[in-house]
Amino acid sequence: MPSPGESADGLSPAFLELLKAEPLADLTVLDVGTGSGRLALTLAPLCRAVVGVDREARLVDEARKRAAAAGVANARFVVGDVEVEDYAPFKPDMVVAYLCLSAAIVERAGRVLRPGQVFACVAFHTDQWKETGRPSRFAYGEVGARRLLKKCGFAVEHCGVEREVQTFESVEQGLAAAVALQEKWKADGRWFRYVKFLEEGGRTLTRAHLLVKARRA
Ligand SMILES: C[S@@+](CC[C@H](N)C(=O)[O-])C[C@H]1O[C@@H](n2cnc3c(N)ncnc32)[C@H](O)[C@@H]1O
Repeated sequence: MPSPGESADGLSPAFLELLKAEPLADLTVLDVGTGSGRLALTLAPLCRAVVGVDREARLVDEARKRAAAAGVANARFVVGDVEVEDYAPFKPDMVVAYLCLSAAIVERAGRVLRPGQVFACVAFHTDQWKETGRPSRFAYGEVGARRLLKKCGFAVEHCGVEREVQTFESVEQGLAAAVALQEKWKADGRWFRYVKFLEEGGRTLTRAHLLVKARRA
């Protein structure tokens, strides 16, 4: 089930509105860290072309299959490391990133985009799953994101937070709410810290995303 405010594929409607305010029909959009292509495939019917890049070959393959099944002809998917590769060969007019943000990505977007062109992203906010005591390496707060974008030559037009805090009446409820994350969190040590948080009386689970749109100055 999508969270409140999310579309059926889990994308933020507010973020999609920020993108739709641009002349997408004239643009080639580069989606970095595309995963199985959910943003790229949502944008493709609105854009001239979309290129999705991800380092996970399995996900790129899935994105290609989804594009073929949906009859999307103007999206292509490439295996690559978006924190190492130069974006110029993709000839993007806009760069987007959904839950995949780092300094290396913004630097590359700043290098390839021309004045007036847009970089937009949804990033994990530093408050995302803060109950586990360990933010994602892709997490940013508003101040950090603004600083990075400015350093890379962007003027920020929108920087907002979408936040949803679930509250529980018992430890069991808290555990049940995170059950889908259990395997991943057990592997990286966050599960133990979340259980400790609940056992010590914590009764929340926070989801927080940063929505950013910036224009190359
Ligand atoms: C949280 S997932 C988001 C996927 C997709 N944007 C979405 O919203 O469904 C992050 C994605 O970024 C990819 N990724 C992380 N670092 C990357 C890198 N350096 N180069 C390419 N892809 C990367 C991962 O493989 C993963 O698919």
